[in-house]
Amino acid sequence: MLRIPVRSRVGLEKSLVRMKSSSSFIRSTFIDYFVHNHGHKHVKSSSVVPLCDPSVPFVNAGMNQFKGVFLGRVEPPCPRAVNSQKCVRVGGKHNDLEVVGSDGHHHTFFEMLGNWSFGDYHKKEACKMAWDLLLGPYRFKPEDLVVTYFEGDPILGIIEDRECRDIWKSLGVKSSRLKALGTTDNFWEMGATGPCGPCTEVHYVNKDGSLTEIWNIVFIQCNREADGSVKPLRKHHVDTGMGLERTTALIQGAPSNYDTDLFQPLMKAIAQNSPGAPHYKGKFGDGAPLDTAFRRLTDHARMLAVCLADGAFPNTNLNLKQIMRTSLKISTDVFGNHRLVRILYDEVADTLGDAYPELHARAKDAKLIIEHEEQAYKRLRAELVKKWRDLLSQHPEVEAMSDVEMAGFPRGYKEFKEVMSKQNSSVIPGELVFKLYDTHGFQEDVIERIAKLNHLTIDKPAFWKLLQQHKTRHKTAIQEQTASRAQLFEKAIETLQKDDITSTNDSHKYKYSIIDSGIQFEPLKTKLVAILNENGEWIDFLEPSENMPYYLITKDTNFYCEEGGQIADSGLIRINDQVFLKVESVFKIRDFVFHKGCFTITEPTDTYVNSNSEVLLELDSEKRLSVMRNHTAVHLLNAALRKVLPDSVVCQTGSSVTDKGLSLNLSVYGQRLTQDVMMRAQELIRESIQANTPVESRVIDSLQLNESILTVPGESYPESGLRVVEAGAPLPSKELCCGTHVPSTGHIGELCVTLVKAAGGTSPNIHAITGPRATEARELFCKSHQLLKVSDLLDPEHSKEQIAEIKQRLSELCAGSGAPYAEYSQCLDALDSVQKTVATNDLALHSVVEEEIRDATDEATRDGRRFVVHFLRCSYIMAPTAATAALRSHRAGSTPTLLLGCAQGVITAVCTVPKDIASHSFNAKQWISSILPVFKADLVPTPALEANIYAEMTGTKNILHFRNQEPAWRALVNFAQMPEIRLGGFSS
Ligand code: ALA
Repeated sequence: MLRIPVRSRVGLEKSLVRMKSSSSFIRSTFIDYFVHNHGHKHVKSSSVVPLCDPSVPFVNAGMNQFKGVFLGRVEPPCPRAVNSQKCVRVGGKHNDLEVVGSDGHHHTFFEMLGNWSFGDYHKKEACKMAWDLLLGPYRFKPEDLVVTYFEGDPILGIIEDRECRDIWKSLGVKSSRLKALGTTDNFWEMGATGPCGPCTEVHYVNKDGSLTEIWNIVFIQCNREADGSVKPLRKHHVDTGMGLERTTALIQGAPSNYDTDLFQPLMKAIAQNSPGAPHYKGKFGDGAPLDTAFRRLTDHARMLAVCLADGAFPNTNLNLKQIMRTSLKISTDVFGNHRLVRILYDEVADTLGDAYPELHARAKDAKLIIEHEEQAYKRLRAELVKKWRDLLSQHPEVEAMSDVEMAGFPRGYKEFKEVMSKQNSSVIPGELVFKLYDTHGFQEDVIERIAKLNHLTIDKPAFWKLLQQHKTRHKTAIQEQTASRAQLFEKAIETLQKDDITSTNDSHKYKYSIIDSGIQFEPLKTKLVAILNENGEWIDFLEPSENMPYYLITKDTNFYCEEGGQIADSGLIRINDQVFLKVESVFKIRDFVFHKGCFTITEPTDTYVNSNSEVLLELDSEKRLSVMRNHTAVHLLNAALRKVLPDSVVCQTGSSVTDKGLSLNLSVYGQRLTQDVMMRAQELIRESIQANTPVESRVIDSLQLNESILTVPGESYPESGLRVVEAGAPLPSKELCCGTHVPSTGHIGELCVTLVKAAGGTSPNIHAITGPRATEARELFCKSHQLLKVSDLLDPEHSKEQIAEIKQRLSELCAGSGAPYAEYSQCLDALDSVQKTVATNDLALHSVVEEEIRDATDEATRDGRRFVVHFLRCSYIMAPTAATAALRSHRAGSTPTLLLGCAQGVITAVCTVPKDIASHSFNAKQWISSILPVFKADLVPTPALEANIYAEMTGTKNILHFRNQEPAWRALVNFAQMPEIRLGGFSS
């Protein structure tokens, strides 16, 4: 038998005790207890970024992922569940940011252990399970615990929860340890709206008599509505929450959460990585700024790590950005190491990674983002140093505010001083406060400090009024539109609901048939359920007339309304052969799809409609098909960029899909979207198009989501009916999406990336086109490169026109904002080179023309001739307009001259006769007229006087309309030998 020496045995026992009280042991004990002893299912912690709930900035309780279940919108995943949920309480109803660091138990991030009953067990079982776990495995003593329950609230219409009180009594809790409390303490609510109910809490009595809440057991039975009322739910549920950090501190006998094994490794890492190795001493209050900094940094490091591992981005999440900046500031200013946040990420992953493996899986990405933020923060500070120096020289008092790190501070402060110097008042006017807030980005606490520093007060009411006006003005146009539309149609919706019509069945929007491998959209036969005029008023009976807008609601629809970044469909709602409504916009209010448009009447008719008429819904198929191509292409582009940039963090933050093209907004940390990156991404998409990979959709609910499915962080999705759109190899893509897609990638046909905005930043935007538009663009790209190859030979006039045409068409096809990218950019470069070469050609050609005419004149003089007849050979390679211009450029010298040119079958001749020679019997008009019949040409009218000295003809003669230069030349030489031409009635 192995004998263990006594001293080692003591050590072993100690470490066993330590293990049995470690935070991981406490966490796993909780889960095992509910799984094994009480038949619960272990459900994974959801991401801290809420997917289906815009009412909270972060997941703030274990129940968030089950909200839909409580409200009866989603089927429960099981009757009983248990989990440990990552929670963040920053912003919103439960906001602990301000107090973090000043005490030992408030955190921005914490873990909530919880068990749930979805309409299964209720109060008795819930209390008993909790009590048994506390007194059993966790070894709490009943004499150290007190229990509170709900005393009732007449406003809520809920009476004292005596049932709960009696349950506790039956479990052995003495009356003296049971306390009834009001709504503030014992009625739990998730946020401003959402599931809620009375709760009962178990508290630990500390040595000083204060209480630490250990476990909150909520009996979810109501929902707080948006109008503030509390409505009962159909089924009753149990939702419980136990803070892991607090429970760990109590079980480990630690003075505060920061002294547990959840924080100590982080404290040690800070000490080891800071010059001077400061140590955490666990002191609180104003006299312990270093310890407060330790607590804040460790708290924030955990929150940052968890959020980044869950795919949140500082540039799209202001709370995260603020906490990142604060942490970097503490790291640099207090601990002298700006890399601490990055170092602490690894510590957090080590302490929590077993429970939340995403902390390990996303470590590389998260640290890349932190590094980027470190750099950005450093740059901001460097910039500020310069600006501050300047500000301090003008306003030395501002030294007291040197902790304010805002890029806009120096400029805003200067403006503040300037405006106030002109006022004879000790009150900062509301307009100025608002300007500081709105234009210069000053937070209210900063403005307060400025006021104090300058012994001034603030006109707060005036500021609040302006702020209110600003907020109403700044509601997004869409929000306003949706809100006012919802109001406009409220009555109509109520009428429909009274008739038990609760929604429009719009599932037909995903339907199409494939005929001869093409996509076809069948018209949909359905019935009207409501006809409304532009004031939202119900119309029972309507004789359609043109030019009046109407809103039609149908029982079913195949029209897509604007959603998920995809534009709405266009098309017709046909009443009969003579009458149809041209649909201009489609939108949804509370599950009803509204089609807005005006009627068109093709023939006189006595048609009427009522809210029961049969109609035929016909989509604009061409537009819809383009939209589908573009939507699938957005998914492929998203997937391609991830593949091309494996060492960067790439995340979609938004997209827009129309029939003209697509645009994708991204967060990119790491590499930049260079031309080469975009070309490679484009190539991958083309490979996928070539492979004609199937694109499949299936419907899931929020509880079936996992990290293999891409979502847009911060975007809200419905809890049920979520569509997953998936394309396979060679470019796998799996995204949550409500849009319409082609059945296989081959239908996209072609894709061209055209423009990229802010390619070097962290929030770039990419434009691309697909289908016939992309094919046409590619042909133009090709044409440009061909032009470049033969640019030396090009005719200047003609190619200038051609280049302008190509550029014009491309700008129509690639319309959008951003810099030309990929082939579009290469094509524009090629066209510029062509233009340059052609400009040189143009110059060269001019000198050739001049030289030819000079030679011809010299030859005539040498031969003793007193006139020149010359065919301009170089006109053959010119455009007709260019040839005419070249001929015209010759002006009368001292010799009568007849110049001819032939360009692309058009013959032009110009005749000049020196003024002193021109006479009634010999002049330019007469001379040129003598050759008109030869070419069947017309005289170009010139003023009478001019006609004596200058004449011009133009015409086409078939025999000369040849492409081959030689015969033309010969014909013209022969022609030039003709006596009447040579002499023109004029003897040399
Ligand atoms: N949802 C309850 C809480 O967060 C259990 O306290």
